[in-house]
Amino acid sequence: MKLEAGQVAVVTGAANGIGVALAAALAGRGVRVAMADVDTAALTKTASDLGDQVIAVPTDVADIDQVRALADRALAEFGRLDLVVNNAGTSAGGPSWEVAPADWDRVWSVNVGGVVNGIRVFVPHLIAAGRGHIVNVASLAGLTVGLFGAPYAASKAAIISISESLRGELDLVAPEVGVSAICPGPVDTRMFRGLAELAAPPEGAAAESPLPAEVMAKLAPMMEAITEMAEEALPTARAAEIILDAVESGKLYETTHPTMAVAARERIDTILESFGTPARAS
Ligand SMILES: NC(=O)c1ccc[n+]([C@@H]2O[C@H](COP(=O)([O-])OP(=O)(O)OC[C@H]3O[C@@H](n4cnc5c(N)ncnc54)[C@H](O)[C@@H]3O)[C@@H](O)[C@H]2O)c1
Repeated sequence: MKLEAGQVAVVTGAANGIGVALAAALAGRGVRVAMADVDTAALTKTASDLGDQVIAVPTDVADIDQVRALADRALAEFGRLDLVVNNAGTSAGGPSWEVAPADWDRVWSVNVGGVVNGIRVFVPHLIAAGRGHIVNVASLAGLTVGLFGAPYAASKAAIISISESLRGELDLVAPEVGVSAICPGPVDTRMFRGLAELAAPPEGAAAESPLPAEVMAKLAPMMEAITEMAEEALPTARAAEIILDAVESGKLYETTHPTMAVAARERIDTILESFGTPARAS
């Protein structure tokens, strides 16, 4: 879908990080934006900084009634809907057997439930309009499994699967409606910085780890890899441009870091080799 001035976008998780950059990039193109987030203070401030073509709609994406209210507000304010970016996300980690049920629930209800609610509420509008595009922000973590991050990685794998099902379904009933599943690598936001600081605590900070020292020692190579990844963290504005390019080119899958996605191929090869699946004839 070509992005044009006068169109209307809804961006969730828009009070911080990639969501702010997306809202700013869209507003810069003359697209009117309904910004949604649970962080009401940051949301209101950011929306007012972006001008009068942007509205702040405090929304918990895990609550479908609030997502319905978001759609109603955007339509009442702007009269149309062209682009929906299900970007809100949260994370939790630790040994899988120790992650608290409340953390599993929070990650699942925001990351997966938020995307599902966005699809349930907005896709019927896009089908009825016969145009538009929906973006679901997943992660490379959904294609490549990391240790001690099962809730997050599993939620992102679910988003990838749901997006691909949605694309196939819309191909049959409304092929003009676009779908993109974005798999970012490291992007310089508070979410990524939180992970990077776990791997390399800032000087003077007490190292807080839920894991025993001997396990942490075994994880040193993984921690080093995370620290190296931090050096490749993209600015949010660049990540936003990559996402909007995927919308314009109608790409189902996009990443910010193609070279890091090599791990996804290694993973699927390992699975297929374990099955005894014959290699593809070259
Ligand atoms: N930063 C990265 O390196 C990276 C990598 C891969 C994927 N992602 C994904 O990108 C998306 C944006 O993350 P970010 O890095 O900008 O993080 P961020 O923490 O800066 O922003 C996430 C936003 O989501 C909001 N949010 C959380 N729960 C919500 C809820 N229930 N309802 C509405 N809003 C809610 C937060 O308030 C916050 O404003 C997330 O889905 C994240 O998983 C980020």
